[in-house]
Amino acid sequence: MTQQTLTITTPDDWHLHLRDGDALKAVIGDTVNQFRRAIVMPNLRPPVTTVAMAARYRDEILQALAANGLSDRGFEPLMTLYLTDNTTAADIEAAAQSPFVHAVKLYPAGATTNSDSGVTDLLGRCQVALAAMQRHGVPLLIHGEVTDSHVDVFDREAVFIDRVMHPLRKTYPELKVVFEHITTKEGVQYVRDADGPTAATITPQHLLYNRNAIFTGGIRPHFYCLPILKREVHRQALVEAATSESPRFFLGTDSAPHAKHLKEMACGCAGCYSALNALELYAMVFDAAGQLGRFEAFASHRGPDFYGLPRNQSTITLKREPFKVPEYIAFGESTLVPLAAGETLPWSLSHHA
Ligand code: DOR
Ligand code: ZN
Repeated sequence: MTQQTLTITTPDDWHLHLRDGDALKAVIGDTVNQFRRAIVMPNLRPPVTTVAMAARYRDEILQALAANGLSDRGFEPLMTLYLTDNTTAADIEAAAQSPFVHAVKLYPAGATTNSDSGVTDLLGRCQVALAAMQRHGVPLLIHGEVTDSHVDVFDREAVFIDRVMHPLRKTYPELKVVFEHITTKEGVQYVRDADGPTAATITPQHLLYNRNAIFTGGIRPHFYCLPILKREVHRQALVEAATSESPRFFLGTDSAPHAKHLKEMACGCAGCYSALNALELYAMVFDAAGQLGRFEAFASHRGPDFYGLPRNQSTITLKREPFKVPEYIAFGESTLVPLAAGETLPWSLSHHA
């Protein structure tokens, strides 16, 4: 008989953009409804580069939870620092000692939203920080795309593997590395075969859609994110990786809210908003692959295991009941279009225990 319900350990989101200010207050509730913890990206303006800044940002998140009446939900923001050419060993040591900073994020300068202060030359300029991260077991979270405008936008991840991932791994064999939001078969292969502590997060959009989604009957900005959606062969490789038994692939939504009008414009922002319905979307992928039994490992076990954190104690239940994704949701003065807006999904989230 077809499986009707799925009860799993409460999942965590290992890659999330929460923003700050009113945007933070508008989106935080969606993540709390789906996840117990989240790795919170530091690409604010200005970026979160020190433990002191991460502490202030964390306080702001806790205040946003309180303002939404969510303080008793046990949600835990896992903070990150934004790596720059000037990150010092002392910055990393402070991060290693902090109870709430769990990783450092690498944005190659110019790669994506708010990455102007990003790293210009990882292996040339960040040796001190990388050595300290390796020494203290602080994971490096990598936006793995070259920013060279001569490289085709669809090839930037594959080229990054050759130019950066291989030499990085050779130089820092014990460094914990998460290749964030992988999008290609080359990314899957790299992570599967790499030496040392290596893992990857995978988003719902890269598991569900290929690049045709961006161009179906016209240009569809709500499918535009970075790294950009790739060919079907890559999507299939990602589904295989996520639903495999490898402990290296786990859930990270990369949910990245941008107001509707800032995506639907001549130069629209990159990012898909999936915090509203991430588990429903991921469940579709595992169901379609005939691998619902592996969903819990992907969503709830492998992430904490890699980060050296305890698995959650509570559970959530998904039911095979239709969930109609709204066309848009409120976002301060504006609105936000969720991933798969207007579609009816086969799974819905039932309760938190
Ligand atoms: O699509 C994206 N949006 N990719 C990123 O790397 C950043 C994110 C954002 O912050 O909007
Ligand atoms: Zn991201």
